Amino acid sequence: MTNNDLIKKAETVLNNNFKEDKGFTIPCEGLYPFQWNWDSGFIAVGFAHYDANKAKREVEALLSAQWENGFIPHIIFHNDSDTYFPGPEFHQSKLHPLASKSHRTTGMTQPPVLGFVLKEMYDIIEDKADILNFIKQNIDKVFNNHQHFYTHRDPNQEGLVFIYHNWESGTDNSPIWDDIWGTMDPPNYKFERRDTTHVDAAQRPTNREYDYYLHLIEIAKAHNYDEAKIAELSPFLVQDPLFNAMLIKSNAALIELYELIGDSEDKIKTLRQWQKKAITRFNEKLFNEKLGAYVHYDLRNEKQIEFLSSSSFAPIFADIPNEERAEIIVKTMMDKFGSEDRYLCASFDPSSDRFNPKKYWRGPVWINLNWLLFKGLKSYGFYDIANRVKDDSVQLIERYGFYEYFDSRKSVKENAGYGGNNFSWSAALLIDLLKC
Ligand code: DGY
Repeated sequence: MTNNDLIKKAETVLNNNFKEDKGFTIPCEGLYPFQWNWDSGFIAVGFAHYDANKAKREVEALLSAQWENGFIPHIIFHNDSDTYFPGPEFHQSKLHPLASKSHRTTGMTQPPVLGFVLKEMYDIIEDKADILNFIKQNIDKVFNNHQHFYTHRDPNQEGLVFIYHNWESGTDNSPIWDDIWGTMDPPNYKFERRDTTHVDAAQRPTNREYDYYLHLIEIAKAHNYDEAKIAELSPFLVQDPLFNAMLIKSNAALIELYELIGDSEDKIKTLRQWQKKAITRFNEKLFNEKLGAYVHYDLRNEKQIEFLSSSSFAPIFADIPNEERAEIIVKTMMDKFGSEDRYLCASFDPSSDRFNPKKYWRGPVWINLNWLLFKGLKSYGFYDIANRVKDDSVQLIERYGFYEYFDSRKSVKENAGYGGNNFSWSAALLIDLLKC
């Protein structure tokens, strides 16, 4: 298939998933029938290449549900659907006094991609005056979101923000969380899974894992999603290298955009202060010398979680390691994840006994992580490895289709595209990869 054919197919996937009446894009039919926060950001990057209007509407639809305190939720329930659990009745975002009055949402967030997405849109879209005008209208909302993070998600004022739920990480059922589940003993909730009616249960989290997920939400709801209470009580409190790298990358993008807009000295000064503190602390606290990469920090139990995942390498996307440290983490990535019989980049350490090549975030390759690794590798001058990440991503999609995630083993003979099909961010980011 030529690159142009692939791009055309990707555009069809995105166009079919776009909901014209509300102006947003579902991640895929059935499995994810609403608007998801970080999905939308990646989707907007794809649209920016051929339909600037849709890219802008995507961002606006997400921001239309921003809470009065700056918080941007992880799911916006623009519409009703009975194909997904847990829906708006379970989340009850309105328990929080500053929740969106116009939209039902969840009470948790997702990796803060919007800052760098606005910058990508600016770089891609040809009509610079028009896109800069759009950015001017929206950038303060993203700034307020970052301010919310540093005010309410950083109890030690160290420049690193916490997540209180695995769904906030984006890497939902990663083995990283297994030891935290070991500290909890939630009830066996009665609920009806919907995801496993769309996708083989072997590719999704277990029912017992859902008990943990729901329990964390119940604790937050019992305190009306008050983040100070959550910081005090949630058994899940983690400083995630992927999440914090996204925030840092978005801070950097906001600085560049405010410079273009002009007359924004105060905001730029504040962003620079956040950046300095965040990058310094990130390098002190989240680097693991023994593993040769960044790891998650369990803030509740005050220890590093010593496992390698694709999130361990994401800081190269945000210019966090110095050159020497970048060499170390890229070497670790290639030694542990980069053997020739595998596609880059597995989401979890293939040599670990927790690795599962088919199960969601316990091993499969994800196109969004590959996209940011590609960009990060290139920016540090690792061109050959960057190109391998790009070629592997394109090959996986060509071989199997626009799936949600893929088996990293090249030897698999059957279909090794897993999860949802016609998945929006796989399509959107393939367009971007093929155009850069
Ligand atoms: C799910 O339902 O698996 C979603 O990823 C949660 O965000």
